[in-house]
Order: sequence, then structure tokens, then C-alpha cells
Amino acid sequence: SHAIPVITIDGPTASGKGTVAQLVAERLGFHYLDSGALYRLTALSALQAETPLDDEQALAKLAGELHCSFSNGAIFLNGEDVSMAIRAEKVGNAASKVAALPALRRALVELQLRFAQVPGLVADGRDMGTVIFPDACLKVFLTASVEARAERRYKQLIDKGFSANMHDLLKDLNERDARDSNRAIAPLKPAEGAYLLDTSNLTVNQAVEQVLGWYAAVKK
Ligand code: CDP
Ligand code: CDP
Repeated sequence: SHAIPVITIDGPTASGKGTVAQLVAERLGFHYLDSGALYRLTALSALQAETPLDDEQALAKLAGELHCSFSNGAIFLNGEDVSMAIRAEKVGNAASKVAALPALRRALVELQLRFAQVPGLVADGRDMGTVIFPDACLKVFLTASVEARAERRYKQLIDKGFSANMHDLLKDLNERDARDSNRAIAPLKPAEGAYLLDTSNLTVNQAVEQVLGWYAAVKK
């Protein structure tokens, strides 16, 4: 798998990882792994099954037996299109809770590694560069101010037809950032050698071009 180029894009919620990673993958003709979706899918199945969000063994079992598939940008769980459902803030918050459980994280490792296929992979999440793909040829850490991120998330939720208010969103973002950064296992932090990119004042396109530029340079 060392011959397969992997680009990791990690960062806090709403920093633009997903948007930038997908566009970079498209431009390079690479596969794309939305690792956060796996935590969201596990959280959604737990909410559906009413599994307590601290029952580590039961949740790890759910994660290990996820019947999910990704096709044309849509995400399926047990054959049902849950692309919308997993984007709800309730699911994002539950995802960040279950993501702190070591057994659950272990149960998702293999599934994530399988995304590294020719001709290459762009993977986004929190621990892509630190834990899952430590040998990635390019590691990027995206950031943006909490205000910029709250505004982006607000706009996304409204565009998708969810209701949202800025006050709760800011509170959720701060809580989620703290939980993701302070947990004992695979905390959110830049990987060694990661390129930092603050997107607060960048357009999506500028961020994409920066990552492609770095990739062209490391590829040589
Ligand atoms: O879109 P957003 O950045 O808000 O979240 P996401 O990437 O979909 O991930 C949802 C939650 O899953 C995050 O808050 C993290 O707690 C967790 N996660 C993780 O622990 N490790 C990853 N590689 C990806 C997501
Ligand atoms: O995956 P993550 O939670 O980090 O962020 P996302 O789901 O990609 O959402 C980021 C939102 O901010 C999207 O609606 C983008 O269009 C917007 N945005 C961005 O990603 N990057 C910028 N430089 C500016 C805006």
C-alpha cells in the first residue's frame, strides 16, 4: 500500500475538510474517504437502535457491523439513503461522543484502510494523518476561526433545510472542538510534518489550489 499516494486532510468541524478533500480527489481522479461519515453512521445506528452513547462494547459492535456503502456522493446505511440524516447536528454531536471510545475507533480502522486503492486516496477527518495513514505523502491541517466555521455550518444547515441558530451552533462547535481535541485517543491535532492552512479568508477554490500545489511539490 506504500505505492498508493494518500493525501490526508484533518481539521476541526466546518473548517472545509470535506469540501476541499472532495474537490482535490476529483481533480486528481483519486478515491475519497469521508471518515467522519463512518462515525456519523455509527452514531445514527446507535440513535436508531437506542443504544446508550456510552455502551462501548455495544457501539463497537455496531461500528464493526456497519452495512454502509458510498456511491456517487450518496451514503447508504442498511440500504437506506441517509446522506441527509447523518448531517443533522444531533448526529454530529453523537458522533463526537462515540468517537472518544477506543474499541469503537479500532472497529473502524480496517474499513478505512480499504479505501486506499489505486490511483490514490484523499482522506478527511481528525486522525487521518496521525493514526490511520501515518505514511501519507501529503498531510494537511485545515483551520478557520470559530466564527467563520459557525457561519459556514449555519449556511450549510439552512441550505439543507434544517433549522439552525447561531447561538446554539457556536456552543456546539466549541463543545465539539474541545471534546475532539482533548480526548485521550486520536485527539484532533496536526500530524507531524502537516502543512497548516487557515481558510478563514480563503475561497474554497484557493484552498483547493493550495493543496494541489503542495501535492505537486511533494510528488516530485
Ligand atoms: O463535518 P464535521 O467536521 O462537523 O464532522 P465530521 O468530520 O463528519 O465528524 C463527526 C465527528 O466524528 C467529529 O466531531 C469527530 O468527533 C468524529 N471523527 C473522528 O473522531 N475521527 C475522524 N477521523 C473523523 C470524525
Ligand atoms: O468537512 P468540514 O466539516 O470541515 O467542512 P465542510 O462540510 O466541507 O463545510 C465547509 C463549508 O464551508 C462548505 O459549505 C464550504 O462551501 C464552505 N467553505 C469552505 O469549505 N472553505 C472555504 N475556504 C470557504 C467556505
